[in-house]
Amino acid sequence: PTALTVLGLESSCDDTAAAVVHLPASGRATVLSSVVDGQVDLHAAFGGVVPEIAARAHAEKLDFCVEQALTQAKTTLAEIDLIAVTAGPGLIGGVVSGVMCAKGLSLATGKPLFGVNHLAGHALTPRLTDDVPYPYLMLLVSGGHCQFLMVHGPVDFKRLGGTIDDAPGEAFDKVARLISLPQPGGPSIETAAKSGDPKRFALPRPLLDRPGCDMSFSGLKTAVLRARDAVVADKGGLTPQDQADLAAGFQAAVVDVLAEKTRRALATYPDGASRTLCVAGGVAANQAIRAELETVSAEFETSFIAPPLALCTDNAAMIAYAGAEQSRHRPYDDLTLSARPRWPL
Ligand code: KG4
Ligand code: ZN
Repeated sequence: PTALTVLGLESSCDDTAAAVVHLPASGRATVLSSVVDGQVDLHAAFGGVVPEIAARAHAEKLDFCVEQALTQAKTTLAEIDLIAVTAGPGLIGGVVSGVMCAKGLSLATGKPLFGVNHLAGHALTPRLTDDVPYPYLMLLVSGGHCQFLMVHGPVDFKRLGGTIDDAPGEAFDKVARLISLPQPGGPSIETAAKSGDPKRFALPRPLLDRPGCDMSFSGLKTAVLRARDAVVADKGGLTPQDQADLAAGFQAAVVDVLAEKTRRALATYPDGASRTLCVAGGVAANQAIRAELETVSAEFETSFIAPPLALCTDNAAMIAYAGAEQSRHRPYDDLTLSARPRWPL
């Protein structure tokens, strides 16, 4: 293979991002720049990402992010070998913005275009910073995603299971709203849980009675709602201790579910095979979840790898890197590349 310098674009949710990554002929890639322009403020008043607002912001900011990414990488479009762009899955307006921007750049420069699956970007991220051998198990847990993937190669993924309803980050955010903790819910629940009693409220561990790696978090959220309502009916409101106990109970349930499903996913490795567990996604920032996954990894004599948080959450370096690796295994796209709201790996 030849060395590649790749410009990556990402706009599938609420982060507008551009990055430049260099992949040498052999060995590990280098992130030359990674620009992420988040939209949290734009959506804060609405309690969730508003697709139309997101799409307009992406369309406005992509050019600027690309310019910054090239400048920070001390390079120019002329030196770029490939333009990689998230072509799905995600909010379609945002994905279209990114794909159109990439097509314009490709048409203007004559550089090849390559559509990347956002989930493949997350799934390949650990190899950007660590020498992780294939196959490895990837647990992807964020506000929008929740799945176990066995990664056999840059274009070879096997989905072992995932959520059948909410993603865990979404559940953290919704539960925070229910118990009047600030958004984003993940960090505020984690903080509150530190002074809480996880055993005070009996909350369910959904789907543990079912075989396989599928998960569910929506029923758990409803159970927190009922527990909250019982306290409010009894005392007229929630004290900080009630909030902490509800947060601790909820987080402990998520930890238990992720740990048990991870055990099952790790058990699918053949006996004697070398095992690696990798995590990605914003929820992987949670220390309680991380600690438990490390414990489970030790039980199964498995290496545990969590990429730096800036690469775990949405970014374009992962898209540029995935584009570089994948372009060695399948042909480039052309101007007929389409944006796909749904695109299973
Ligand atoms: O990967 P990410 O930045 O964005 C996407 O969802 O694509 O993940 C954001 C999600 C939010 O739902 C947020 O509440 C959750 O990750 N999160 C956490 C923590 N930090 C962020 N969840 C649990 N514990 C945390 N410390
Ligand atoms: Zn993502």
